[in-house]
Amino acid sequence: MAKREEESMEKACMKGVKYLWESGVSRVPEKYIFPASDRPSTNRLSMSTGTTISLPIIDLSLLQTSNRIQGLESIAKACEEHGFFQVINHGVPCDVIHDMIDVSRQFFELPLEERAKYMSGDMSAPVRYGTSSNQNKDDSFCWRDFLKLNCQPLENLVPHWPSSPGYFRQKTKAYAEQMKSLFMMLIKATIESLGPVIMDDFLRREFEEGSQLMVINCYPPCPQPELTLGSPPHTDYGFLTLLLQDGIPGLQIQFLGEWVTVEPILNAFVVNIGDFLEIFSNGRYKSVLHRVLVNSSQTRISVASLHSLPINNVVCASPELINEGNPKRYKGTNFSTYLKHLSSCELKKNNFLESIKLT
Ligand code: OGA
Ligand code: NI
Repeated sequence: MAKREEESMEKACMKGVKYLWESGVSRVPEKYIFPASDRPSTNRLSMSTGTTISLPIIDLSLLQTSNRIQGLESIAKACEEHGFFQVINHGVPCDVIHDMIDVSRQFFELPLEERAKYMSGDMSAPVRYGTSSNQNKDDSFCWRDFLKLNCQPLENLVPHWPSSPGYFRQKTKAYAEQMKSLFMMLIKATIESLGPVIMDDFLRREFEEGSQLMVINCYPPCPQPELTLGSPPHTDYGFLTLLLQDGIPGLQIQFLGEWVTVEPILNAFVVNIGDFLEIFSNGRYKSVLHRVLVNSSQTRISVASLHSLPINNVVCASPELINEGNPKRYKGTNFSTYLKHLSSCELKKNNFLESIKLT
């Protein structure tokens, strides 16, 4: 490629994949091509149409009844065996879910100049738009554009969020509130499912005041989906992530050493254990690797809500879960330490839990 062309391609890549797709690229630019060993097709069984998995389904209405114990047991099993499950009968109104997907799609339909207003390198900005994961550092870019919204404290931050499309703030705020309530219900149950641990008022307050980050992901169609990924293998940092998918498959998780595709269920949420809950549970509940495949025909939208403690609070194993047979596995840590670790490595090579492992 001529130098001029190369330069303009480099510039185009910084504008994101929505832009690339709209400008009609027929081949994936060099910048997005993953090394052969990291491409989705290296494992023939897990091509986009490959092995799918029906995650354990937890009916949250059980938790409200005399069958609560049964509900807790199914949560414990899912957390130990998959690190992922889906929740139904969760009480989040369908219109709140639909509106969230709608305004997300509309946001990514806005002209690039409008979206680019929110581009920022500041990790603590109330709103941050970007492409790939860390567009200033990633070796290979991934095929995704994102909008990250800080949600804590919600009332103060909403006025910084995009004002376009018209109902964006209103609908997204309603959705964020629903996610916070759902998280509170789920973290209480998940902690209770660990057996000897209960969520006391102190811990409850910590979670109530804890961080909430919403990530709206847009994965446009990709001309050569076998050469790249929407998101490289990673784990989530917090306690729990609640993920809404628009019905198009793409999310894959590691299960028994294979990449398997999660089958979307309409109006259900995918819930997964983050690194901090693995630490809190002293390794009993696993923060499982996952990644995202892209496809050549449809734009996929997902909304992840990541929940944790306030950013400076120390996370360590619950004392009830440490004993002679199961000594403390990880050093205490907090979000700032996590961010420092993240900025010192590339997402693809992020091994945060390894870095704080004891012995
Ligand atoms: C994430 C994530 C999965 C998806 O945002 O951390 O894993 O399907 N998203 O978009
Ligand atoms: Ni994730």
